[in-house]
Amino acid sequence: MEAATSAQRVTMEEITALAKRRGFIFQSSEIYGGINGFWDYGPLGAVLKRNVKDAWWRDTVELRDDVVAFDSSIVMHPLVWKASGHVDAFHDVMIDCKVCKHRFRADHLSDRSQCPDCGSKNSFTDPRNFNLMMRTWIGPMEDTSAMAYLRPETAQGIFVNFKNIYQTARKRPPFGVAQIGKSFRNEITPGNFTFRLREFEQAELEYFVPDDGKDMDAFREWVERRKAWYAQYGIASERLRFYELTEAERPHYARAGIDVEYLFPWGWGELESIAHRGTYDLDAHVKLSGKDLQFFDEATKSHYTPLLIESSAGMDRTVLTFLIDAYERERSVDPNGKETERTVLRFHPLLAPVQVAVFSLARNKPELVVRARAIEAALRPVFRTQYDEGNIGQLYRRQDEIGTPFCVTVDYETLDDGSVTVRDRDTMRQERTAADTLGAYLRERLER
Ligand code: GAP
Repeated sequence: MEAATSAQRVTMEEITALAKRRGFIFQSSEIYGGINGFWDYGPLGAVLKRNVKDAWWRDTVELRDDVVAFDSSIVMHPLVWKASGHVDAFHDVMIDCKVCKHRFRADHLSDRSQCPDCGSKNSFTDPRNFNLMMRTWIGPMEDTSAMAYLRPETAQGIFVNFKNIYQTARKRPPFGVAQIGKSFRNEITPGNFTFRLREFEQAELEYFVPDDGKDMDAFREWVERRKAWYAQYGIASERLRFYELTEAERPHYARAGIDVEYLFPWGWGELESIAHRGTYDLDAHVKLSGKDLQFFDEATKSHYTPLLIESSAGMDRTVLTFLIDAYERERSVDPNGKETERTVLRFHPLLAPVQVAVFSLARNKPELVVRARAIEAALRPVFRTQYDEGNIGQLYRRQDEIGTPFCVTVDYETLDDGSVTVRDRDTMRQERTAADTLGAYLRERLER
């Protein structure tokens, strides 16, 4: 029922069509027929994604004095993945249809009597484990000794560097380490546009706390902080939920876990997982490497292994969420009484790829074009701007579709009295204001 409500609001067809039409997201290697599970971000999508990552980074790292930055390599020593459990346990169970050769995730098939793709009866192979890590070979030899993995999560780079980080950053628990970077998983069935990918980006925070009885407070604080972040950037609260995993749903070592889920047009889907992982990760690396990864507390001269609270958000899923949540088809009546419809992306101004568009009313009037270009150039160091010219109605429609909060039009009056028209994306209201003070006018409205 809830999923139907979301589906009525927007369909994935509408989102993928808009994403392609306006340059947010393209199929990877499209001219060769595409490649399943990989997507490219176009000129606007790349900016939107950067803004989403910056918003996460600002809140998780820059606004806190207890979180430091990190950037580890994608390819690490293969034993990292042995210790983490990924070599032995990071798999999905798959089954193949012997007739059409289509491969399915076993947990995605509720009825195994008939292939949902070709309709064949009793055509499935036995279930088999399929490891999701992507492999590569280092150096000139392609034998097992040269085999390595593309990381399936960024977190392990932080764990294996735990000592390097706390010693050089001079931090003591509680403190966190954050990184944003690419991860790779050989998903059996990628899909739902950019929801399930084989190459994707994660924003992960690993927050180390002492075992002093306050660890669950830290866990809850991060849950609240993440809730506030989604709310701050405008995700509708009725389409977001924080699902608390039961003991049976969590890995055995996890003491608590919450999945942040969004109501996508096809139903609820996970955006982020927040977990209390105890000492599992550091212990595993100590055990396999034989190296000391404990924290040494100078004050008490004691060694201990801190507990870990992790928040791990998929940036591609978050971008997709912002696209879907911002999307609206809106009917209104124009001043002549005519009913019109527009598509608008109501992005938060800090996320919008373009914040201010500046138009010249006419393309062939040099005095207007020169003035509009000068105004846009003056705003450019402060805002993300775009210059355009031509039919104002069409220009508004395009900027609405890419979510630009403000459009500024330079017309003949501008030449007379130095005023411009500023049009608000959400209310569609237009206001005359002085071009000289436009920067302050826009700053006030964009930072509201
Ligand atoms: N270090 C913990 C970890 O990786 P996870 O739940 O496997 O936890 C965290 O992944 C987040 O990464 C997910 O909530 C999701 O947003 C994103 N993610 C995982 N697999 C993905 C995929 N195949 N495509 C896109 N995003 C993915």
